[in-house]
Amino acid sequence: MIRDLTDDQARSAFPLKWGAVEPGVVPGWVAEMDYRPAPPIEDALVAAVRQGALGYPPFGDGGLGDAFAGFAKRHWDWSVPADAVLPTGGVMGGVRLALEALCPPGPVVVPLPCYPPFRDAVAITGRELVPVTVDPDADEAVLDLEAVEAAFAAGARTFLLCNPHNPLGRAWSREELAALAGLARRYDVRVVSDEIHGPLVLPGATFTPYLTVDEHAVVVTSASKSFNVPGVHGAQLVLLDPADRAVFAALPVPAQNSWSPLGIVAGVAAWRDGDEWHAALIERLAAQRALLGELLAARLPRARMRPLEATYLAWLDLRAYGVADPVAAGLAHGVRLAPGSDYQPGLAGHVRLNLATNAERLERMIHRLATALTSRDS
Ligand SMILES: Cc1ncc(COP(=O)(O)O)c(C=O)c1O
Repeated sequence: MIRDLTDDQARSAFPLKWGAVEPGVVPGWVAEMDYRPAPPIEDALVAAVRQGALGYPPFGDGGLGDAFAGFAKRHWDWSVPADAVLPTGGVMGGVRLALEALCPPGPVVVPLPCYPPFRDAVAITGRELVPVTVDPDADEAVLDLEAVEAAFAAGARTFLLCNPHNPLGRAWSREELAALAGLARRYDVRVVSDEIHGPLVLPGATFTPYLTVDEHAVVVTSASKSFNVPGVHGAQLVLLDPADRAVFAALPVPAQNSWSPLGIVAGVAAWRDGDEWHAALIERLAAQRALLGELLAARLPRARMRPLEATYLAWLDLRAYGVADPVAAGLAHGVRLAPGSDYQPGLAGHVRLNLATNAERLERMIHRLATALTSRDS
């Protein structure tokens, strides 16, 4: 059901992930999966292109709200009104718009490590970023609610949440999120929750849509990550408050990073018709997660992997190997990973590894990384 791409196919499908590495290097960095998209999405996009559906997007949502509401109900038992779902061009563009148009000016709390564009989004909206760092030595990667409260008490007005979390791989618990929501209410802080990884919760964990604990929040999400179609630029905001929807709908054209009709087509096909493929994907990712655990135990037993509850991005602490730059060492041995310091400036010895490929490439990645970290020239 999951159709793997050969190296050549992957290189033409993913010019960033595969094109930015030399032939022979296994790319395990940027968050794309080495799989063909779900057949319903492929079919819907081909049909749309054949129909010439390449004009400006419609002012309605093209069925996106109903399709997302159906997925949310089936997978998370969450009832979302279809008209709360508003299309936008991309998740990060949507986060930026949410900050600018729907959040008060003032400092923004961001847990670190974070997806690097979070920091850029805060910066380009002219806001101060207040980091709340998850201690790399903590037993569990949990939200430091005391530090969050201190930041709110000191004047922060917005909290930028990644739910589930990239790169920590956490699916925050309902209790943690409810505690955050309580603080947000108390200090009149608005939470913007990026839920692009919501459908990528793996067996054993549960995704809690943030709006189910805090109706005042803004959610930005997309099928693009979980269905591997970021290039069609389709995302959506979920806004439960009609007043927020009116503000968003009234944004002038240059402010709203207009979406693609193909993004709508792909989003509708994914949310409405993608369940079978999605189930196969989760099965594959769970198998890759298990394989990664075995490979690390065998080849890199001193590596510490945070439990991967969600996403296909493993967060590895390699400090025990004493290699100053594990990404450079890995690259010299034919594997490209993402440096931990991209996610938390100054953080040493961590990498993010993308396991959404086939078993053989994952084995090669860990084999090469182990050679890089344990050979004398590193
Ligand atoms: C947390 C998070 N948000 C947003 C994005 C990117 O979304 P978009 O390409 O729609 O801006 C990613 C991509 O990996 C991500 O991990």
